[in-house]
Amino acid sequence: MKTYRIATIPGDGIGKEVVPAGKRVLEAIAARSNDFGFEFEDFDWGGDYYRQHGVMMPADGLDAIRDKDAILFGSAGDPHIPDHVTLWGLRLKICQGFDQYANVRPTRILPGIEGPLKRCSPKDLDWVIVRENSEGEYSGVGGRAHQGHPIEVATDVSLMTRAGVERILRFAFRLAQSRPRKLLTVITKSNAQRHAMVMWDEIALEVSKEFPDVTWGKELVDAATARMVNRPASLDTLVATNLHADILSDLAAALAGSLGIAPTANLDPERRYPSMFEPIHGSAFDIMGKGLANPIGTFWSVVMMLEHLGERGAARALMTAIEHVTGDPTLHTGDLGGKATTAQVTEAVCALLASNSAVTSEAA
Ligand code: IPM
Ligand code: MG
Repeated sequence: MKTYRIATIPGDGIGKEVVPAGKRVLEAIAARSNDFGFEFEDFDWGGDYYRQHGVMMPADGLDAIRDKDAILFGSAGDPHIPDHVTLWGLRLKICQGFDQYANVRPTRILPGIEGPLKRCSPKDLDWVIVRENSEGEYSGVGGRAHQGHPIEVATDVSLMTRAGVERILRFAFRLAQSRPRKLLTVITKSNAQRHAMVMWDEIALEVSKEFPDVTWGKELVDAATARMVNRPASLDTLVATNLHADILSDLAAALAGSLGIAPTANLDPERRYPSMFEPIHGSAFDIMGKGLANPIGTFWSVVMMLEHLGERGAARALMTAIEHVTGDPTLHTGDLGGKATTAQVTEAVCALLASNSAVTSEAA
């Protein structure tokens, strides 16, 4: 029997509620399998750790999780600590330290969920956004000088390497190729950003030659926002730079009904390091500690983790259970206009996993 070693990092705010819920669901998955189980190690890194130790995670933190099979992450963000400190001290440290260069964000309108677009039926919106996750606008390169003087200056340099662009575009073409429509939209801004984005476009054309069966096109990032709203069915797989995809993926999540549902995978496709799975939503301090957080974003992230681990049957069974639960409005949390609690949604998913219906779907 295989045992997957999972690091859990709840982080801050509702991360402390949804990560334990994700763990419960993984335990329910393990309970129905004779082939694999999970061994969890919990890490208390985040805002509280920072208040005690002055850092978001210990200096040798990456070594403590380097050998895990995967990481389940909640959220990082604290109203009393600057956002760039919480982000760079924990989540980006892990993403960049483990070279998780492919950030993958699927979006669909799940059963029972109402999206805000009047003319969009659920089948029209089925996207995966691939976000470059290691450089670009988040390279961290830049600085400040003349601080406190009238001539103060600050730069954030967007840095793109040929190797970095090639690998994310190749990843995106491969992902598009694996989906039924084999359709990729490369998001760009090469009309205004005339160096790096022009290189990005050139590399897209080069890499596309390796994937003759993928239909692809370019779209400027601003035009892409309008197209997502007006012609959602014209899109399938999208690939964009770090910041462009950050913005587009929030729009995508909102168009699919709620940020509380959206999942993310931070992948090292070469599997040199563990990959990290997390809901897209933040720490949501306004509802923390009340048991009201929507755990579906975490559960869908767990589906992505199971896929990454190669447990496709379990991934399908969990996705089926999630879709049953979202289909029942009495199991909607507040972000979806319902009254259900984190615990009720979690128990409903676990109960389905324990029942025969989920087993049947796994076999299918
Ligand atoms: C995301 C988030 C983060 C990002 C924030 C928390 C810095 O918005 O994962 O999309 O911009 O990368
Ligand atoms: Mg974002």
